[in-house]
Amino acid sequence: MNNFTFYNPVKILFGKGQISAIAKEIPADARVMMTYGGGSIKKNGVYEQVMAALQNHTVLEFGNIEPNPHYETLMQAVDIAKRQKIDFVLAVGGGSVIDGTKFIVAAMAYEGEDPWDLLAKHAPVQAAVPFGTVLTLPGTGSEMNASAVITRVATKEKFSFGSPHTFPKFSVLDPETTFTLPPRQISNGVVDAFTHVLEQYLTYPVNAPLQDRMAEAVLLTLREEGPKALLAPKNYDVMANIMWSAAMALNGVIRVGVPTDWATHYIGHELTALHGIDHARTLAVVLPALLRYKSGTKKEKLLQYGERVWGVSAGTEDERLEATLQATISFFESMDIKTKLTDYEVGEDTIKTIVGRLEERGMKNLGERADIQVTDVEKILEMSL
Ligand code: NZQ
Ligand code: ZN
Repeated sequence: MNNFTFYNPVKILFGKGQISAIAKEIPADARVMMTYGGGSIKKNGVYEQVMAALQNHTVLEFGNIEPNPHYETLMQAVDIAKRQKIDFVLAVGGGSVIDGTKFIVAAMAYEGEDPWDLLAKHAPVQAAVPFGTVLTLPGTGSEMNASAVITRVATKEKFSFGSPHTFPKFSVLDPETTFTLPPRQISNGVVDAFTHVLEQYLTYPVNAPLQDRMAEAVLLTLREEGPKALLAPKNYDVMANIMWSAAMALNGVIRVGVPTDWATHYIGHELTALHGIDHARTLAVVLPALLRYKSGTKKEKLLQYGERVWGVSAGTEDERLEATLQATISFFESMDIKTKLTDYEVGEDTIKTIVGRLEERGMKNLGERADIQVTDVEKILEMSL
């Protein structure tokens, strides 16, 4: 097992009715900015619950944070929050609202010239305004980690950042808030979380059987519960299991002491930045091609994954690898997510554009072995057509 430092200070308030507990988590004299998205929270009672909980707090609202949150919009929030002397932010929504809020709180405290440097130049986050979250869409894991992914519309760039200062102080995970999710977002959440686990698991063995089995536990749970959620989106127990699985998939626990890949996410962000394809869908396109392309160096973990998660145990190694890839693709398709670039009307010209951008950016050494270069990205994308 590799050396590691583990730190995750996020307090989780899990279950029905927990929104009412947030008042105790936010200082009584705080000036709170509540951030949210396009209005789903106003249609499902979440907004009312939050407002009722904060009736004795000073609350200012900032809505209309977009899916794949826009830097341009978030900077407006930063400006208002600074002028209004906001000292606590509450994100209410999915990964985009939570990510956007992480950027807002870091940018509010940023002393450099241009907060975009936090993303484009990985300028260190020295401080951030404290924030909490009420999650309404399980999948990204943003509610229990310190990372965020932000899009700059003007340049069609999508970059991530994170720091120990951008962990939420608390997150409410109430499965009832998910009951209004459209099927498309349930599918996205399950496939995103599933891929998070695979990016931390399908690398190479370092004799970390506990991390392996914890990763497999999350995969098996998502495999069982994901299809159930599409059939019964208001089933509390199913959504509770998905909510906790998604948090466990990316809260740092399964990553400790093991190599991680993340090339699929890196490539996927380019597809979202250029074509607005939902994050999870980009992963469902890139991952199968990447696993096939790297099946040589990922062989041992792929075979283990096939056997333990999909019951693939018969045949030659090559046959087992193929059956494992097919099982993964079928799972994504069973969650109503297409797995080919052409399913999203994206063709060769986009691959050329991405390759050009990555070359310009000097991208190199992706993947757990730092052996994925721009030419490999090109081949992976060609395999995903
Ligand atoms: O904006 P509203 O009106 O709230 O509607 C949203 C949005 O249209 C809707 N929604 C959310 N909760 C709902 C609901 N609709 C009905 N009922 C509810 N309870 O769902 C739509 C999508 O929301 P969004 O927040 O964009 O989705 P998701 O949670 O999948 O977040 C995606 C973003 O997270 C980033 C992605 O790159 C993408 O930008 N990620 C963040 C990560 C992290 N911080 O660790 C890791 C991930 O890999 C990912 O990159
Ligand atoms: Zn993801």
